[in-house]
Amino acid sequence: GPVVVAIDGPSGSGKSTVSRAVAARLGLSFLDTGAMYRAMTWWMLANEVDVEDADAVAIACGKPVIVSGTDAAGPTITVDGQDVSGPIRGPEVTGKVSAVAAVPAVRARLVELQRGCAAHAERGIVAEGRDMGSVVFPDATVKVFLTASERARSERRAAELRAKGVDEATITAMAADLARRDAADSSRETAPLTQAADAVLVDTSELTLDQVIDTIAALVEE
Ligand code: ADP
Ligand code: CDP
Repeated sequence: GPVVVAIDGPSGSGKSTVSRAVAARLGLSFLDTGAMYRAMTWWMLANEVDVEDADAVAIACGKPVIVSGTDAAGPTITVDGQDVSGPIRGPEVTGKVSAVAAVPAVRARLVELQRGCAAHAERGIVAEGRDMGSVVFPDATVKVFLTASERARSERRAAELRAKGVDEATITAMAADLARRDAADSSRETAPLTQAADAVLVDTSELTLDQVIDTIAALVEE
């Protein structure tokens, strides 16, 4: 069947950057599933759904039409036809996304969309998130669990935000939020962040981006 590369790990471990580069190099599609949870959260906030109320989120989550463009050269994400790639990275969505992602009905809906993306990928797909290897694609061709020390991860995220011109107070707040989000993502009941038994662990703390990309591409080409 088509190649499915499942990449999971905590925030700032390099999933998006590395997955997109591996997909581009190997001519595969690319799916950022975190962007889908962020898009769902953006819609909840825009429509004044109380995101701390799991029942309210479950009832509303069937409404937004979320579409992921899976071209590795230029991935896109829209909600009801609107490009939300900018606002979904802001602190408002980042602060609430773990609560929305913990709601089983949200996960059921997005998992179905994710499997649809993989089914429609021409040559195969690199899909990254928290539960790609454990839940969404249990039969993936290759599973990778990317990690890095918490310090390396928060420093990378800070450097990224600084390069975007984000102010220091927001950077500090988002660094603190990273640890909180990882704890929430790892301890929730439905599809907690966990390394699948058959996933290859890659610790990126002491590796360059190119070394990580080479390592994963080699696993796929094996
Ligand atoms: P995630 O999707 O896991 O949250 P991202 O790919 O968004 O991670 O962010 C990781 C950031 O760290 C990117 O800005 C990336 O360029 C940077 N980075 C620096 N060194 C590495 C490395 N060795 N491996 C992965 N990412 C790295
Ligand atoms: O880029 P970053 O690592 O900061 O986060 P992301 O990959 O964009 O994911 C945002 C949030 O979505 C995570 O903190 C999880 O709460 C949730 N998520 C999830 O539950 N399952 C996935 N497969 C992907 C993301």
